[in-house]
Amino acid sequence: MLITDNKKETEAQVILFNSKEKNLLNFLDEEEQEIVLKNLKLNLPFITLKMHQQTIIAVDVSSNKQGNDLKEALRIKGYQVYQFLKDHKINTVRLISQTPLEKKLSKAFVEGCLLSNYSFDKYIKEKNKYLLTIYASGSILNNKDKQELNTICEAVRITKDLVNEPYSYLNAVQLSNDIKQYTKSLPIKVTVWNEAKIKSEKMGGILAVNKGSSLPPTFNILTYQPQNAINKQPLVLVGKGVVFDTGGLSLKPTTNSMDMMKCDMAGAATVVGSLFAIAKLNLPYYVVGLIPAVENRPGYEAVCPGDIITMYDKTTVEVLNTDAEGRLILADALHYAKRLKPNLVIDFATLTGAAVRAVGKEAAVIMSTAPKEIVKKVKNAGNKTAERTVEFPLWDEYAQYMKSDIADLKNVSSEAGAITAGKFLQHFTNYPWIHFDIAPAFVNSPYNYRGKYATAYGVRLMCKFVKNLTKDVQQNKKRKNTNRNKSR
Ligand code: BES
Ligand code: MG
Ligand code: ZN
Repeated sequence: MLITDNKKETEAQVILFNSKEKNLLNFLDEEEQEIVLKNLKLNLPFITLKMHQQTIIAVDVSSNKQGNDLKEALRIKGYQVYQFLKDHKINTVRLISQTPLEKKLSKAFVEGCLLSNYSFDKYIKEKNKYLLTIYASGSILNNKDKQELNTICEAVRITKDLVNEPYSYLNAVQLSNDIKQYTKSLPIKVTVWNEAKIKSEKMGGILAVNKGSSLPPTFNILTYQPQNAINKQPLVLVGKGVVFDTGGLSLKPTTNSMDMMKCDMAGAATVVGSLFAIAKLNLPYYVVGLIPAVENRPGYEAVCPGDIITMYDKTTVEVLNTDAEGRLILADALHYAKRLKPNLVIDFATLTGAAVRAVGKEAAVIMSTAPKEIVKKVKNAGNKTAERTVEFPLWDEYAQYMKSDIADLKNVSSEAGAITAGKFLQHFTNYPWIHFDIAPAFVNSPYNYRGKYATAYGVRLMCKFVKNLTKDVQQNKKRKNTNRNKSR
C-alpha cells in the first residue's frame, strides 16, 4: 500500500468530483454523463464506468458535512472504493481531482484507502497478495504529504501487527525484540531492562503482576531525541504491555472476557507505532516511550487477592483483585517517568471494561492533570484524526475509593471503574499528565478503514498532536522574528 508519484499506465482512475459544481463532468461524453447523473440519484458512495477500456471510479465529494466530519466521511469513502478495487483485483489507480479540492480532503480520501489495505495473514497459508498503489500528481498531493501518509500507514500496520500477534508468539521478551526490530533503522535508542534489573530496581508492581508467569517481564525505554528538538523536557508516552491478561488468580471467565486479551498490550503497541512515525517523519520533538511488559496469569507463585505489595515508589498496595493489573505496572512506569522531568506524560492502556461500557468503540476515555490548553490540543488532534476522546473528571472525592485500611492504596473499587483506575494512576504522577483508557483499540467486527481486531487507535492522534506542537512553536518563532524585524 503506497501513494506515490504519477505513472502513465494504471488499471483504473479514481476521479474526485463535486456534484454540486457545474460542468464537472465535461470530460465525459453525453452518454457517460447520463450514466453518472442517473447514478447520482441512487446515492451510491461512488459510480463506476468504462471509458476507453479503462475503469473510472467517480467519487462524489460533495456532502452536507463539514470540517472533521467531512474528513471522516472521505476516509470512509476511501474505504468503500478500496473494497471495490480489491474485489476487482485492481492494484494500481491514478487519482484525479475534477474539483479544486482542499488538500486535506484528498489526503483524507487517500488515507481511508491506504489504511484499509491491511490484513493479518502471517499464520494463513493463503496470503493476501492484494496490494494497492495509488498514483497522484503533485497538484493533488505533494511529496511531503505522500511521505506522511505512507509513514503513518506503516506505523499503523506495525501497531496492528503487534496487537494481533497471539501470546504464543508475543511474550514480553519477544515484544522487546520486536520493538528493537521495528525501530532499528530509525534514530530511536531502545534500552531493555530484564528481570534481574527490574528486581534490583524493585519495580514491585511489574514483578507482582508477572509472578504467575513462567516467562520474565521486561521494561522498555525508547528514546527519540533529535538534535533539532524544540523541547528540552521530553514528552513521555507510557503504554500498558500486558501480553496476555487472564485476570490472574481473579480469573476472568473465558468466553467474552478472556478470549481477546492478547490485545492487552495495545497501549504499548500505540506507543511503539507513535514513536516510529514521529521519528520517521523527523519531527523535531524529544519523545520518550516507556513500556512495562508482563503476563498476568494464575500460577503457583501468582500474587494472591489480599496480598500487599510495595511499588517502585514505595507506596504499598493491597491487591484485592489480580485482574486490576494494568494500573500496577503503569504505576511503576509513571514513577520512573519522574526522573525524566517530563513536560507532559501521556499513558495509553486497555485499562478498564468500564471505559468500554461507557463509550464503546467510538472514543477513548481520557483524564488529565495537564493544563487546559494542552488537553484541548490533544482533543483537537483526536477530532481531526477521528480518534476521539471523552474527558472524565479526576475529582478529589474519587480518591477515597482507592484507600485501603491496611495499605496506602488498594487496587480496585466497586464504584466508577474507569475514573477510580485513573485516580489510582494519578497517585504516581507529579507532572502534567493525560491518561487514555483506549476502548477502541480492539474491535470484534469490521470497523470501516480501521479494520477488524486491532485498530491502532491513538497512533494517528499522537502524530497529529506532536506535529501540531512543532508547528505551534515554529509559528511563534516566525511571529517573534517578524515582530523584531518590524521594530527595527
Ligand atoms: N484488560 C482489562 C480491561 C479490559 C477489558 C480491556 C475488556 C479491554 C476490554 C483490565 O486488566 C481489567 O481486567 N480490568 C478490570 C478491572 C476491575 C477488576 C477493577 C475490569 O475492567 O473489569
Ligand atoms: Mg485485568
Ligand atoms: Zn488488563
